[in-house]
Amino acid sequence: MTSASACGKVILLGEHAVVYGRPAIAVPISGLRATAEVHGRPEGGVLIEAHDLQVVSRLPGDEATSPLALTAANTLRHLGLDAAQLGLRIVVRSDVPIARGLGSGPAVATALVRALAQHLGRALSAEQVSALVYRTEVLLHGTPSGVDNTVVAHEAPVWYVMGQGPEFLLVGVQLNLVIGDTGVSASTREAVADVRRGWEANASRYERLFDAIEHIVGEARACLVEGRLGRLGELMDANQALLAKLGVSSAELDGLVATARAAGAFGAKLCGGGRGGCMVALVARGSQVQVAEALRVAGAVRVMTSTVVAHARGS
Ligand code: PMV
Repeated sequence: MTSASACGKVILLGEHAVVYGRPAIAVPISGLRATAEVHGRPEGGVLIEAHDLQVVSRLPGDEATSPLALTAANTLRHLGLDAAQLGLRIVVRSDVPIARGLGSGPAVATALVRALAQHLGRALSAEQVSALVYRTEVLLHGTPSGVDNTVVAHEAPVWYVMGQGPEFLLVGVQLNLVIGDTGVSASTREAVADVRRGWEANASRYERLFDAIEHIVGEARACLVEGRLGRLGELMDANQALLAKLGVSSAELDGLVATARAAGAFGAKLCGGGRGGCMVALVARGSQVQVAEALRVAGAVRVMTSTVVAHARGS
């Protein structure tokens, strides 16, 4: 048996605008993980069991309809192997909540690609894993920017611009995050499509909003590297206001964001596609518990805390 895992993620700033060529900053959530185990299967073929989704897919056969089967098929093709000649059972599990903007799709797909390649004795670089998972994201989301598969495959804070290689950010001070789940499942594909319709109807307004987000993300990058958390929080708040103008926030998200700020967060915003799913707050070391409790009282169905460790100087 071979097993591999992959992390969840949170987009700290820049979602949606990133689909239009602007930068985004995303960080891994290493405490939330998906795992894939690969076992031999004497009957032959490739069977994929996703227990959290209660889905079983097969190869050959299900690659056009099942994102996991497609991921395995693309990986095998990349490795020059034929599923019909193999006998494998792949078991996938995930702690990353589904359809909440925390990267459950890329986490599961990344774990699967890694476990499959390792089981077959083949090494894949993070770039290769990311490129394979991107193809699954296309099936799931239609026109993904690529930020999610990139941050998950590299498991590092990343500055991402579509069509350019990722830049890894040397975070100057530990980031303490509190993530609140509205409990509302939201489709990133639909949110992205609605923004696209808005852009088509009024390109100059949307381009102005994307430009404003770009400006914020640029300043946030400097704050992250220099460890200026207060200003970083303000920029997250400003990003949230622009996301609301894009029409991707919701009453539940607005409520949790306001609660986190009132409980002392430096700043807070929705994360990912929006319309539901999760929000993320940046908080001072030591105030994670207080902000988490306030979010629970305000109706968050699940609250998670995560930290992004500072880059060690000289390394
Ligand atoms: O909802 P998530 O976690 O899949 O994040 C989507 C981020 C978007 O910027 C809205 C879309 C994209 O492809 O980057």
